[in-house]
Amino acid sequence: MADAVANAGADAGSVADSASASRGGSAVTGHGFSLAGRVAVVTGAAGLLGRRHCAALAAAGARVVATDLDEAACAAVVREIGGRGEGGALPWAADITRPESVAALRDAVLERCGAIDVLVNNAALNEKVESPLASGEVLRFENFPLALWEDSLRVNVTGTFLCCQLLGAEMARRGAGSIVNIASTYAMVAPDQSLYRQPDGTQTFFKSAAYPTTKGAVLALTRFLAAYWGGAGVRVNALSPGGVENGQDAGFVARYAARTPLGRMADPSDYEGALVFLASDASRYMTGANLVVDGGWTAW
Ligand SMILES: NC(=O)c1ccc[n+]([C@@H]2O[C@H](COP(=O)([O-])OP(=O)(O)OC[C@H]3O[C@@H](n4cnc5c(N)ncnc54)[C@H](O)[C@@H]3O)[C@@H](O)[C@H]2O)c1
Repeated sequence: MADAVANAGADAGSVADSASASRGGSAVTGHGFSLAGRVAVVTGAAGLLGRRHCAALAAAGARVVATDLDEAACAAVVREIGGRGEGGALPWAADITRPESVAALRDAVLERCGAIDVLVNNAALNEKVESPLASGEVLRFENFPLALWEDSLRVNVTGTFLCCQLLGAEMARRGAGSIVNIASTYAMVAPDQSLYRQPDGTQTFFKSAAYPTTKGAVLALTRFLAAYWGGAGVRVNALSPGGVENGQDAGFVARYAARTPLGRMADPSDYEGALVFLASDASRYMTGANLVVDGGWTAW
């Protein structure tokens, strides 16, 4: 995939190309998948998938702004992707739950990169079976602390709202842009809690109610903004990944794989093609959609 994306990046593209493409040129043989000349902001860039999103967008030619809570972690991502993309990638620490922090991010991107063409709202709180919270029953619905519920809403919903409001409004002012909101299979179907049950019947991990609730809200916000900004040239779509294999115990991985038509958990690279597609003109007639990339998890 990296090679395919890199080849796409070899072609120069621009907002002007996008306009001419929408008058009937081919999105595939033209500059459709290229992000050359585009500036792409990725939140949660230092996380498991965020760093892969940054690498994929850079390989397609974008100048990537890698933003996360920790400055050193953002800089490490930029080093990892080799500063690829016109002008080199930019690390920027920001807390998406704080309006002044998101406004500072927007101003820095505009000052250093000149424009915002792509926004990937990827940052989220996502309790994971391999995380420390997995020990104890704190995630069980009956016990789930109000503070964790509110933290999830603040990062996953309010953070996405603020980034759309402050960075997306800049796209709307310019009349072009693509926003990709990262949702989840659990935005569409409920977590099957039996997946987390050990063969001996014990269970200490539960997927919380907060995660699917916030991801469902991300889909609703995506549709709202697609309708709201359709006339302003800003496309807003969601990408819904399935579970990524990341050091979980073998029993969990096997149970997940058995429930997945393609027979395995995702590799972090499995989302690169879909992300570049949504970010680029290849998806130029798509807005308000939810692109599901889950190995078939939600198909049955
Ligand atoms: N990993 C999976 O299996 C999976 C499956 C489906 C959907 N997703 C979604 O994909 C996205 C990325 O998941 P991941 O597994 O890479 O998560 P992750 O936990 O590895 O990374 C999330 C990143 O968001 C950052 N973040 C948290 N709060 C923030 C804040 N207030 N401001 C700025 N950044 C903040 C964290 O520092 C972290 O680097 C999430 O939206 C997640 O819900 C992941």
